[in-house]
Amino acid sequence: MSNSQSIIDIGNTYFMHTYSQFPIVLQSGTGSTLFDVDGKSYIDMVAGIAVNSLGYKEEQLTARLHEVIDQGLLHCSNLYWNPYAVKAAQLLSRLGEMDRVFFCNSGTEANEAAIKLVRKWGSLQASDKTDIITMEHSFHGRTYASMTATGQTKYQKGFAPLVPGFSYARFNDIESVQALVSPKTCAIMVEPIQGEGGIKPADRAFLQALRELCDTKDMLLVFDEVQCGLGRTGKAFAWQAYDVKPDVITLAKALAGGIPMGALLAKGKAAEVLQPGDHAATFGGNLLASAAAVVLLERLSDGSLTKHVHESAAYLRKHLESLCSQFASIVDLRGIGLMMGLELSIPVRPIIEACMARGLLIAGSGTHVLRFVPPLVISNEEIDKAMVILREALEHCGA
Ligand SMILES: Cc1ncc(COP(=O)(O)O)c(C=O)c1O
Repeated sequence: MSNSQSIIDIGNTYFMHTYSQFPIVLQSGTGSTLFDVDGKSYIDMVAGIAVNSLGYKEEQLTARLHEVIDQGLLHCSNLYWNPYAVKAAQLLSRLGEMDRVFFCNSGTEANEAAIKLVRKWGSLQASDKTDIITMEHSFHGRTYASMTATGQTKYQKGFAPLVPGFSYARFNDIESVQALVSPKTCAIMVEPIQGEGGIKPADRAFLQALRELCDTKDMLLVFDEVQCGLGRTGKAFAWQAYDVKPDVITLAKALAGGIPMGALLAKGKAAEVLQPGDHAATFGGNLLASAAAVVLLERLSDGSLTKHVHESAAYLRKHLESLCSQFASIVDLRGIGLMMGLELSIPVRPIIEACMARGLLIAGSGTHVLRFVPPLVISNEEIDKAMVILREALEHCGA
């Protein structure tokens, strides 16, 4: 029995069956290449689903984490200040042009915090101004309010009763949003690029119209940038790629280079809503995660990472466009920066498996979309290798 197989057998015995996992066990990495416990290498187009933006064994990140570990204090509670969280909040606010930050540990938690913020803000104006409009095919997380905000019934099935006060508009269809707005609506929540919904970018005109609608009807605009934020579009924040500024932003995934961390950002009137006692997270902004976040945020601040994203995204897109013209089952290529989706007319699972067997990790988004969200530091050489494997896998699967 291989080393991986024995680990998988134990995992299958003791894990709850919440994931359908692929049969590989990953252990180490360098650049944008991963290695499993049997020593096999994989080019990584997944990055832990848009998490590991700085790739693997990144020098600055590794050094900063060692620094914190060597100081002996990983966590001190939000009863006290720590220098890394303060620096991370300052960098995030400046980069995102927001006023205040709340730290938590994941995307769903950031969205829960956003939902509490907008509801408190609405209820301060009228006790029933607490309704929230989100989009069909959106994804906001797995905890109760975030799951209810998610506009896909497959994630909600079996978990009723859901949280009241949510309704779902059609993405990129402003009239369908307008039709749901009432005096009870306090906020509209949207992913600038839908990630789990098939890598679907919003139209700029749609986001602009949402901004205007929120201004006219006195509602808050929330951007869930958990997947598409922090450099992935080629700008530090996805709102900057669209030049449409929300009142509230949620982040997680890439924020701390693989250490769990989420954040809620708010500006203006929204920034002052949550007051002592309203919200908290034990681990939020702990030293280890915050120190890692500072490394990413410094790289975003000096522009080096986003410059690289622009170049590699253009390079990857060129490769994917050439596949589009060669494989009849590819029906669409879409996305912004290093968040791209290739939609096929056939299910993508066999293609993902064929890639994996040949040393390439790609995730799906839904059943028919191949998702490309590599580390933001991926090299052209790694992209070249990945594309050779993808082409072979597409041929193998008769795409
Ligand atoms: C847009 C978006 N929001 C929220 C979440 C939930 O994040 P987490 O899994 O960290 O709770 C995800 C996760 O995929 C996401 O893509």
